[in-house]
Amino acid sequence: MYKIISNKKISENSYEMIINAPLVIEKCIPGQFVIVMGKEDSERIPLTIYDYNKDRGELSLIYQVVGASTEELSTIKDKLYSVAGPLGNPNEICLNTEDFKDKRICYVAGGVGIAPVYPQVKYLNEKGLNVDVIYGARSANLLLIRDKIEKVAHKIRYATDDGSFGTKGFVTDILEKNINDYDIVVAIGPVIMMKNVAELTKKYNIKTIVSMNPLMVDGSGMCGACRCEVDGKPKFACIHGPEFDGHKINFDLALKRMNIYKEEEKEKWNQMKKTLGGLENE
Ligand code: NAD
Ligand code: FES
Repeated sequence: MYKIISNKKISENSYEMIINAPLVIEKCIPGQFVIVMGKEDSERIPLTIYDYNKDRGELSLIYQVVGASTEELSTIKDKLYSVAGPLGNPNEICLNTEDFKDKRICYVAGGVGIAPVYPQVKYLNEKGLNVDVIYGARSANLLLIRDKIEKVAHKIRYATDDGSFGTKGFVTDILEKNINDYDIVVAIGPVIMMKNVAELTKKYNIKTIVSMNPLMVDGSGMCGACRCEVDGKPKFACIHGPEFDGHKINFDLALKRMNIYKEEEKEKWNQMKKTLGGLENE
């Protein structure tokens, strides 16, 4: 069991959870993730390590309520049943900062994708690398942790779909206008955003790293749930990723696989809402 220090709403549909998990974060490097289970019979949910304080042994996670499992997570206030990690490979730039010192790097974050982007930009800033960020959300109120990302980014540009903050449009619009300023792009967010970023950077031959966030079960390469196709070969995001060369990912397959359990997930969420509604009315 892992003690929850706080689990609070930070936007319309996103939460920040801080957990006491010193052994999990002892050796973590940005890019890695954990798999949490709210209760003994809960589904396993993969979440990026968004922030950590190694002195205090605190791990911070950001999650979006998108279905029954994340809805359940938002209601748990005292203890988490399990936290497995750190899992996956660290980000290539964070792992080899010396090799990237002279590169012009831009992070592109879409929506909750800011959660994996933040620790990487913070880490690189601490190592003396100037990294720019383009951050987009549907609306101003869905832009998360602006105060934190602004402290560590060299230059930050915002886009909102409705124009309520920053440039009106998608992150790709800002990237396209500034594409010649960069040697490397790291894109993290919705699969469709990463696909469009990768298609754009491919035209300019700019190295692009993306972080895949498929459904996961065991997190150890055994179940096959997180299979992606990279350069025509099957890879598992949990052990070979989660980050891959954006020009080699089969995004169309990733988009298709994302929707495999959509109907079952919807049904489970509806049932859960009915149960919660029933409890509230008792
Ligand atoms: P969203 O759908 O609101 O999109 C956020 C931003 O992404 C948009 O404002 C826009 O700037 C950009 N975007 C969206 N569609 C685009 C398109 N077609 N072309 C170019 N840019 C586009 O995002 P959300 O509701 O916050 O959802 C976040 C998504 O990120 C979820 O699907 C979640 O699974 C995913 N996610 C991924 C990771 C990861 O590691 N890859 C981590 C956390 C979240
Ligand atoms: Fe099972 Fe990756 S989650 S193989």
